[in-house]
Amino acid sequence: MRSAPAAATALPRNLGPALVRWYRRHRRPLPWRADRDPYRVWVAEVLLQQTRVAQATPYFERFVREFPSVDALARAPADRVLKVWQGAGYYARAHRLHAAARQLVRERGGRLPTTVGELATLPGVGPYIARAVAAIAFGRPCVAMEANGRRVAARWTREEGDVRDPAVSARLERNLAGVLPGSDPGTFNEAVMELGETICRPVQPLCPACPAAFACRAYRELDDPATIPRRAERARRPHVRAAVVVQSDRGRWLVQRRPASGLLPGLWEFPGGRIERGESPEEAARRELREETGLSAVRWVPLGTVRHAYSHFSVELHAFAAQLPATRASGAHGRRRRWVTPSEFRRLPVPKATEKVTALARAEATRGRASRGSGSRPGRTRASGRAATRRPLRRARRRGTRASTHRSRARR
Ligand code: ADE
Repeated sequence: MRSAPAAATALPRNLGPALVRWYRRHRRPLPWRADRDPYRVWVAEVLLQQTRVAQATPYFERFVREFPSVDALARAPADRVLKVWQGAGYYARAHRLHAAARQLVRERGGRLPTTVGELATLPGVGPYIARAVAAIAFGRPCVAMEANGRRVAARWTREEGDVRDPAVSARLERNLAGVLPGSDPGTFNEAVMELGETICRPVQPLCPACPAAFACRAYRELDDPATIPRRAERARRPHVRAAVVVQSDRGRWLVQRRPASGLLPGLWEFPGGRIERGESPEEAARRELREETGLSAVRWVPLGTVRHAYSHFSVELHAFAAQLPATRASGAHGRRRRWVTPSEFRRLPVPKATEKVTALARAEATRGRASRGSGSRPGRTRASGRAATRRPLRRARRRGTRASTHRSRARR
């Protein structure tokens, strides 16, 4: 049965030691816990801020293997850092981590500062990461509260407000600070996070196994402790429909780098863009290619559609292969746009949806080679190009889509 929430909630003083005792017995052997090397703690916190432990762990291992120190990270080229980060998402984190490493080498001999205030001056280090690194790596007496910590503290104190509201969050932090042990604040912070991840889960928390049940108001007073924190309606993830062109010229693909800010910053992809209202995917692909590169293309082949859900939006990419006209020079090789072989492209950092388009383009190239190989006459490139396009074209005609009309006209 629900009872009215009481006003302020002071947590019992024995909660901190009870939690730390539990953590020492039950903590998972996660790779950033092996030592308290400040660089590793920092990298882990950056990754874990928006990614769950199970997902983040292989990325952490790969990242610190490739860049074992601040110096190694600072020396690495930006594309290499993004490539190693590829798949972990929220790419701005990788850009900022890299910028911070370079700043540390320039200004502090590659050593991390030890206070919250100084840590917070580094790119990408907000209040949470500054406190987590200060507490875990340098033993500073502060509370570092991320989503798990907010949920745990909200349940302990039966917080009815929205935990994302800064005033509510500050209240929760004060409550936790009240039970922060004098020694080893890092372990206390890790214990709160561990409890949130393994016991005090968002749904179906394992309350009977919880070392803090004796102090938890949500457990003691509510039928269902999981109703706290109160959940606001989630905004719908926007959906983007776009068309892209894998344009080839003598075995190389035209690729371009995304702007350094915005979605998927600095990653490489094929030219393309949003499909406008009333436009077919192929019309959009032709328009985008022209607008973005000034190039036209011949021998268009629909490759298919790929879909991917990123953290902030989902995308559906209608992919086409096309060739640079023989009369056109392929153009400049610059910082933003390049012609690359498929194996060079594999070494560049790309979004997941582009990786899926690349798989379609490779399959199409293999089919093209196979049909050329099956011909008995030499110099069948044009004919085999047509052969390769015939299958998707017939399928499209059967469906009677507008795009098929454009495709057939396009090839003349
Ligand atoms: N989530 C954020 N930081 C964490 C840490 N250090 N250990 C486990 N989970 C975390």
